[in-house]
Amino acid sequence: MNAIEVQNLTRDFNGLRAVDGISFEVQPGEVFGFLGPNGAGKTTTIRMLTGQLRPTAGTARVMGCDVVTQRDALKPQIGVVFEYQNIYERLSARDNLLFAARLYGVPKARIDAVLKQVGLDERANDRSKNYSNGLKQRLLIARALLHEPKVLFLDEPTRGLDPNVARDIRAFVTDLARQGVTVFLTTHYMEEADRLSDRVAILHKGKIVALDTPARLKAARGGEQTTVAFSSLEDVFVALTGSSLRQTFEE
Ligand SMILES: Nc1ncnc2c1ncn2[C@@H]1O[C@H](COP(=O)(O)OP(=O)(O)OP(=O)(O)O)[C@@H](O)[C@H]1O
Ligand SMILES: [Mg+2]
Repeated sequence: MNAIEVQNLTRDFNGLRAVDGISFEVQPGEVFGFLGPNGAGKTTTIRMLTGQLRPTAGTARVMGCDVVTQRDALKPQIGVVFEYQNIYERLSARDNLLFAARLYGVPKARIDAVLKQVGLDERANDRSKNYSNGLKQRLLIARALLHEPKVLFLDEPTRGLDPNVARDIRAFVTDLARQGVTVFLTTHYMEEADRLSDRVAILHKGKIVALDTPARLKAARGGEQTTVAFSSLEDVFVALTGSSLRQTFEE
């Protein structure tokens, strides 16, 4: 079974087609990089795949669960870390996790394990209001992992973090994948996407314009294997998505 199966997934917002008929599959234990310019439709896709937003058309299954009709079965299978997500700032990390553990029916013993896993054990009893961005992000990841999800959705998990924390989080993603967790990752850091992802999809104006391993994307030009390859995933990204600003100015 595929961990994620998406067919012709589409979402409109008052006449704007934010996600435009995308289809792809993700294997269990795969790190799937989901890239695209600002406004390409990445977060909208994650919201649909996690049962938070109804598709306008198309279907998606995560761990076999239809994201519209089987949301109750879907929930325990997935963990989600969003940009601008809420934590209870008046509570410590431990109490935030205790609260989430009760919601999910997770045994309390799991909290210490997860705090250690994300490197939050030393600050676990401090008020999370005083945490740095890096600590807050660790807490969000801990909360997403509490119930041992099979698929983890990470929406820009290293955004705005210092290189040390970002590296910790990347190492962490690799570990999870090794343990068989499927990771659906969005990021604007092309180096990070290149290093972490087994395969990468590039989304542009709601459509998938490329989907392959980072190595093959870099080796190809116009879909052809040529001697003039791209030197980085950033070059691939810019070649496929970078003309929109220029066009806007020319119009
Ligand atoms: N709730 C909403 N109502 C109206 N329009 C929306 C809504 N959510 C997203 N959009 C629009 O849908 C498009 C895709 O947005 P989305 O947030 O999915 O992009 P993104 O790829 O995650 O971008 P970024 O890299 O900036 O996070 C944008 O044009 C956005 O303005
Ligand atoms: Mg987004």
